[in-house]
Order: sequence, then C-alpha cells, then structure tokens
Amino acid sequence: MSVFRTKSIEASMASAEDADHQLKRTLSALDLTVFGIGVIIGAGIFTLTGRAAKDYAGPSIALSFVVGAIVCGLAAVCYAEFASTVPISGSAYTFSYATLGELVAWIIGWDLLLELMLGASVVAQGWSQYFVTLLGQVGITWPDSLGPGSHFDLPAFLLIAALTLLIAKGIKESMRVNLVLVGVKLFIVLFVIFAGIQFINRDNWSPFIPPSQPGKAAEGLTTPLLQVLTGMTPATYGVMGIMAGAAIVFFAYIGFDVVATTAEEAKNPQRDLPRGIIGSLVVCTVLYVAVTLVITGMQNYKEIDPKAALATAFTNVGRDGFATLISAGAVAGLTTVVMTLIIGATRVTFAMSRDHLIPASLGRTNPKTGTPVKLTLIIGAVVALIASLTPIGKLEEMVNIGTLTAFMLVSLAVPILRKRRPDLKRSFRVPGNPVVPWLSALACFYLVLNLSIETWIRFVVWMALGFLIYFTYSRHHSKLATGEEEEGSRKAPEVVSEH
Ligand code: ALA
Repeated sequence: MSVFRTKSIEASMASAEDADHQLKRTLSALDLTVFGIGVIIGAGIFTLTGRAAKDYAGPSIALSFVVGAIVCGLAAVCYAEFASTVPISGSAYTFSYATLGELVAWIIGWDLLLELMLGASVVAQGWSQYFVTLLGQVGITWPDSLGPGSHFDLPAFLLIAALTLLIAKGIKESMRVNLVLVGVKLFIVLFVIFAGIQFINRDNWSPFIPPSQPGKAAEGLTTPLLQVLTGMTPATYGVMGIMAGAAIVFFAYIGFDVVATTAEEAKNPQRDLPRGIIGSLVVCTVLYVAVTLVITGMQNYKEIDPKAALATAFTNVGRDGFATLISAGAVAGLTTVVMTLIIGATRVTFAMSRDHLIPASLGRTNPKTGTPVKLTLIIGAVVALIASLTPIGKLEEMVNIGTLTAFMLVSLAVPILRKRRPDLKRSFRVPGNPVVPWLSALACFYLVLNLSIETWIRFVVWMALGFLIYFTYSRHHSKLATGEEEEGSRKAPEVVSEH
C-alpha cells in the first residue's frame, strides 16, 4: 500500500474511455486558446496592476509582467509536454499520478483545488466591485449591506450560482457564452491600449525604473517568509521592486494551466493543448505589457489609482465615458474568468473521483449534458459561499501559493517521466531538459518564498486537511488500493530511449 504507487499512463488513458465517466470531445485549438485567454485576463490586469505599479515598480511594472511571463512560460512548456503526452482530464493531478505517485498526485490535486476554487472566489469578489461601480456610473445605487465587502456579497453569490447552472448544462454551451465575453474583454483591453496611446506623456516614463528605496519592513504574520529566513528588509522600486511587482502580478497569468484540465474535451489534445497553453500565454503577455506601458505613460505612477487603474486613467484625462465603458468591459471580462476557474475545479475533482480518491458516485457524468452535474453543483456551492462570506483581499496569496506549488511539482515531474517512460509519444517536448524544468521549479520556489507567513500557515492547515482525507479515505478506496486498476511500473521499461 505504498503512497508512492503510480497509476500507469495506459490505465489513465483507459479510464477516459469508461462510459459512465466520459466527457464530450468538442474543442478545437482555437477554442482552447480562447478558453485560455478567457481565464487569464481578469482581476490581475484590471485591479492588481495599479497597486503593483504605484507601490513597487513604477513604470517598470511592465518589466514585472515580463518576469511573470518568463516564470509562467517555463511552467507552461512543462505543462505543454505533459498535456501532449498524457491527454487526460485533471491536468497536473493526472500527470503526477503517472510519475510521482499517488500521494504527490493527491497533494497536487488538493493544491489545484485551492488555486481554482479560491481563484474563482477572488475574481467573483472583484467582479462584484466592478458591478456595483458600474451600477453607480449609470445612476443605480446597490445597497451597501448586500454589496462587496459587506457580510454577504450578494452579487458575487448570484454570479456564481448562474455560472454553475450554465456549466452543469454543458461545456459547449459554456464555451459559446465564453467566446462572446472573451471578445468583449479583448476589445476593452485593446481599447485601453489604442485609446490611451494619444495621452501618453513620455516624461512619465522617466525614470523608467525609479531608484530603489528601503521598503517598510513588514511585521508579524504579514512578513514574507524570505525576510524571516534571510533577515533582509524588502526594498521598493529599483530591481527588487520589479521582482516584488512580479510576485504580485503573477496572479494575472494564472489560468493557462487550466487549459490542460480540458484535455478530454479537446478533439486533438496532443497537438492542440500545447498550442492552446502557449498561445494564450503569449497573447496575454503582449497585451499586459502594452497596457502597463500605456497606463504608466498616461499618468505619473505616483498618481495611479491602486483600485481601478485602467478606468481612472481615463477619468484623469477627462474621458469619463471611456471609464464607464471600461468598467462594463471588466464586468463582462471577469465573468469568464470565474466560469473557467469553476470548470477547472470540476474537472480536477472529476479526475480524482474517477480514480476513487474521492467517492466515485460524485463524478458520474450525466448522459444528457455530458458533464459531471453533481460535482459541478457541489463546487459551485462551495465557491459561492467562500466568495460571498469571506472578506476581500484575504485570499489572493492563497491562490498564488497553491498554484506555485503545483507548478513546481509539475516541472520536477517532466525529467522524471522522461527517464521512466522514454517510450511515450511526446508531441511537444520541453527544450533543454532537464535544465529548463529545474529552472522553472526554482523560479516558482523563489516566488513562494516571497509570500507571507500568514499565507504559509493557512496553506499548511489546508494541506493538513488534505492529508487527513487522504490517509483516512482515499488511500483505502483508490482503484489502485482495491485492485481495480493495476499499478504502473516504477521503472523505465526496457526500450531504447529516444533523444
Ligand atoms: N489570471 C486571472 C486573473 O487575473 C486569475 O483574474
């Protein structure tokens, strides 16, 4: 009953054929790229950019986005190799079940749930803020007692309830709504770039990297772990400011990995998943860097509004109408992010239930809709409650820690699978193995060290809960434990390795 037992890749592929647990294959490379863009561009660029530029990096926030893109790009190529080799729903969870063993797979699945469910909650809260602002801009006042930041955030709750029903109805239907909303979001982002260019004053970019200043040393539970370990006090602006900005805007890139969770719904996953993952990341990077250059060029970074930087940049140059349009675009744009993150969470738990690490009955697909309806409703209910009942601004770092841990483990798994299963067909291969995957893991490790002690404590509690469930339930019920599935070989089969 080793916790390191692995599920063979062949067994993973075979379980995808099980009629009771089967998803419909309908998505093309373009659908996947749109899906990726739909989940990546969200609260990160619409809300975090302003705060990071003002407090940490100034105009060089554009470089923070480049650093963030490099870290995510390294992880993205690792994801792409796995997705092209093991095209099964469940993303990193499934990859690691085949390589690092059941316990690590459980840990990753548990981390991904943290990323996806809390991510959906955070973005729903951001949506609610923009929604109420937009209502205000058109003259409607939403009651404070049921708004964002109150005891019960009703708009966030209603948004998640509506999206959950849509997702339960079917992936193709969700994708159609997604397509329209992503179109609106892209239009708004391009609008910010092109409408903003004329207001750029180059003086605002000078100095591009503001001189480094000693930052306020954080205290108590908000202290970054790195500071506790090394005794360094953080600096703002300068090169360290660019790095601190990168740790914050990392959130803006989260989501490309969710593309890999839809592997079983892709028509040609081996070819199209790497395209979808890398394509959406490239498009978003270009847009992000352009937006940040425009925003920091339109006003001095010290005057940027940390809450709604994109909209207020236009109010500041006397274009109130543009600001309303941007708020409306944010409402549409953030909707798709919430939806896609919920889809991702249902697909990860779906894969876990198929392996009986959580009860199999939960993951059964409904023959009419082709979706795991029961799981979708459970996840939707949990996300709706978290989003409506938790205070704003408390969960972002938790999302980052869950994601970075999963990225780190996936990166480390790439060279392991190359060694153990050199025989597998890989439509996409990480260049420079094993150095690139190791660099990827190292970069993620550096960023998690920058998260606060408070976040680490919460993360440890979450993991402890995960271990409790694994050791009391999953370990004994998993298909590998009951013998319903054979363990994969832990050694490389005797085949000639490919290069
Ligand atoms: N990347 C997503 C966002 O920025 C999570 O909202």
